[in-house]
This record gives sequence, structure tokens and C-alpha cells, in this order.
Amino acid sequence: MSDYVFEPFKIKSVERIPILTRDERAARLKAAGYNVFNLASQDVTVDLLTDSGTGAMSQEQWSAVMRGDEAYAGARSFQRLAETVHDVFGFEHFVPTHQGRAAENVLFPLTVKPGDIIPTNQPFDTTQANIEAAGGAAMELVIEEGVDPTSHHPFKGNIDVERLAALLDDVGTERAPLAVITITNNTGGGQPVSLANLRAAKGVLSDRGVPLYLDACRHAENAFFIQEREPGYADKPIRGIVHETLALADGFTLSAKKDGLANIGGLLATRDEALFERVKQRLIRTEGFPTYGGLAGRDLDAMAVGLREALDERYLRYRVGQVRYLAGRLTEGGVPIVEPPGGHAVYVDAARFLPHIARDEFPGQALATSLYLEGGVRCIEIGGVAFGKIDPQSGETHWPGLELVRLAVPRRVYTQSHLDYVADTVIELYGRRDGVRGLRMTYAPEVLRHFTARFEPVRGD
Ligand code: F0G
Repeated sequence: MSDYVFEPFKIKSVERIPILTRDERAARLKAAGYNVFNLASQDVTVDLLTDSGTGAMSQEQWSAVMRGDEAYAGARSFQRLAETVHDVFGFEHFVPTHQGRAAENVLFPLTVKPGDIIPTNQPFDTTQANIEAAGGAAMELVIEEGVDPTSHHPFKGNIDVERLAALLDDVGTERAPLAVITITNNTGGGQPVSLANLRAAKGVLSDRGVPLYLDACRHAENAFFIQEREPGYADKPIRGIVHETLALADGFTLSAKKDGLANIGGLLATRDEALFERVKQRLIRTEGFPTYGGLAGRDLDAMAVGLREALDERYLRYRVGQVRYLAGRLTEGGVPIVEPPGGHAVYVDAARFLPHIARDEFPGQALATSLYLEGGVRCIEIGGVAFGKIDPQSGETHWPGLELVRLAVPRRVYTQSHLDYVADTVIELYGRRDGVRGLRMTYAPEVLRHFTARFEPVRGD
């Protein structure tokens, strides 16, 4: 049999893709204030805004939906999810939540107090926001290679273990109630963390009595990279690697909208029984009874099946292979991207794509809006709009290190020919990049401005 990695599924139900004319897209973009978050999905041809909750469920998941037990307490759906959480992650104490950030919003107020510091490789935005809301600060300790878009380090999501030890010795462990390592590191490009690194970090933390929590949203993709790249793991099954990874954790949060292959859902698990009691109390106040946690029984069943399906090695080879295929086509076309591609998305380096656009004219936003205009492709800016911070005293903007655009690939949704279309659109635009103009921000909300900011092109129109 040929080694060719094709989509390991047949398509049983389809959704029509909208195709607008360029004039229609130009009008929609203008009405959206040149912010793709304001576009309606009916105006988008290929939607690469996020890989979160946008995946396609399998026939087994849809059948599980029909088995959903909607009892308020002790539903069979919960029992099935508990079996999965035990089998896949090796945890007894967990609660479902409606999504990942809800798990964070239960965990951090119970563990973090004002003035605390939380060591991380790099936190996702909502993780950082929830730590800050509890009065703490997330410290980024990702290895140097992790912030270099040209480095080919195999585990660019690794935490710098020496800096971790130095930080803990410096601030004292009373101010560090837990550490959080994100697998894979979304903020840094969907980059994996090795088991050797997790083990070393765990050693430093447990010597000092600091629990290790994982943000395990993309645990299956991380395990795939470990199997592929970490010495000694080539013959270990994904299921075993996930087990070994989670065995190092004292707890985890997870958004089932990623490797849970579900459209909604999340988990919070811990080995700390005293904390678990407080988790359940807080959950009852904010999410719901501990056996449903803000979800319908059918959602628990969809998650229970999806979390097992994500460990399928053929699926993961196709999944990571798809991202790699898109990255490969872009590199062949000369397009600058973050190397090597991660598990769920290709990150285009907008600063190198549009060097003629100044930082304060938002090259990333200009690239994201141009990809919509040219091909109806929707993606997000991760650069000056999302992470630029205005100093309240001087009024000056502090720009983040990188100016990127993320093409996130939803799971089991688009075929290789859709990705060819995306690659053609990006490469064609790259050929005409000198004609792309910058943007001026006409409305800027104070926080999380990428969601609602508005823009207009710098000249003309
Ligand atoms: N942690 C990571 C690493 C994430 O990527 C996300 C979400 C969350 C936590 C929060 O989970 O959305 O279920 O509340 N990431 C999405 C994205 C939104 O587009 O990358 P959630």
C-alpha cells in the first residue's frame, strides 16, 4: 500500500462554501471596519480564524450525542466522560466546564493570590488574563529558540528549566502557588514541549513543593511530536505518551474544542483532594453542578468520544501533516513563515512579508485583511493589534516581538485542495505584496482590542 497520507475519513455531510466576488468582499471588509472578527461567516470562503470548536465531529460522536443523558446530577454521560478522563489522562478528580477559559476561571481564583507569580513557558491570552484577574502575574520562561521564528529547534515550546529554578529561588515558593506549561505552546506558534523538558521542570518544581499544571488543550498533537522527534519514543503509542505526559502533572486545564474534537467543552482536573472540594463549590456557583459543569449531557458524550478519537495515530499523522503541507507550499512559494510549523496552524511572518509597512500601520492586520479581500480567506493577526500595549503615561506603544498572521486549520474540515487554494491565495498576494497598504486604527477599545478595533486603509479608496 502506498505511504501517501490522505484524509483518513469519508465525507458524509457537507456544508456549502460561500464564494463572493472581489467587489462584494471589498464592501464587506469596509463595513467590517477592516477587522475580520466583524465578518459574517456566510461571507467567508475558507475560515482559518481558529482551530477551536470549529472541527467536524465523527459519526461516532454524533451517535453519542443521541445517547446524551440530560439528568441534572449523576448523568450516565458524566460517567462515560469520567471513564475517558481516567483512561486517557489517568485522573480521578475532574470537573467538566463549558470551555477552557472557564476551567481557568475556576482554578486560578482558588490558587492565586495578589502578588503571586506563575511560571509558564508561555500562557495563552485567556490564561494570562485569568491569572491577572486573580492578582497574579504569568512569567514567560520559554527557551530562547521559542521566540526565534527562524530556529528549527524540535521542541520550541520547552520551558527554560534553569530560569525556572532561578525565578523560584528568587521570589520564594510562597509566591508561586503553581506553574503552568502549555502543550503545545499556541502563543509561540503551536510548538511542542518534550517529555525530557517536562520531567526536568517537574523535578525543579517538586523539589520546591510547587505543583505543575498543564494547559493540555493540544495534548494529542504534542504527543505526536514527541513520538516523531524525541529519542526513545518512536515506537511508543500516542496513548502511552499522553499518559506519561499527564503523569507528570498535578492537574490540568483543557479546552475540548481543540484535541477533544468537540464544538464546546472543557475540563479541570487535579490530584489535590482539598483543592478539588473547593473546585466543586466554585463550579456550582459559576458553571453548574459538578457532573455537568455548564454543558448538556450530549456535549459530555461528544467530548468523551472525541478525546479518544484524537489519540488515533492515522488521524494525527493526517492532522499535523495537513498543517505541514500548507507550510511547505508557502515556503516553496517564498512566503516567510515561523519555522518549523507547529501542530494546529501556520504562522506567516507579516513583518517580513510586508517590510514596507511601518509597525504603526499594522502589517499583520493589513495582511489578514488582504487575504480576505483577495481570496475570502479569514485568519487572525497576532502582532501589534492584538499585543501592542499603549503606555498610559507617555502614550507610546510597546510593540510585541513578532508581527504574525495565524492560519489555523480546523480539524477534519478542509481537504488538501482547500489548503492548495489558501496557499495559492497567499503566494499570489506575496507576488504583489508591494501594492498592499497599511491601515490606520480608527477605533481602539482599551482591552483585547483585536476583537473590536476598527481600521481604514492608509491612503486612497
Ligand atoms: N489555552 C490555549 C492554549 C488555547 O489555545 C485556548 C484557546 C484556551 C486555553 C482557551 O480555551 O477557547 O475553550 O476557552 N484558544 C483558541 C484559539 C481560542 O483560537 O487559539 P477556550
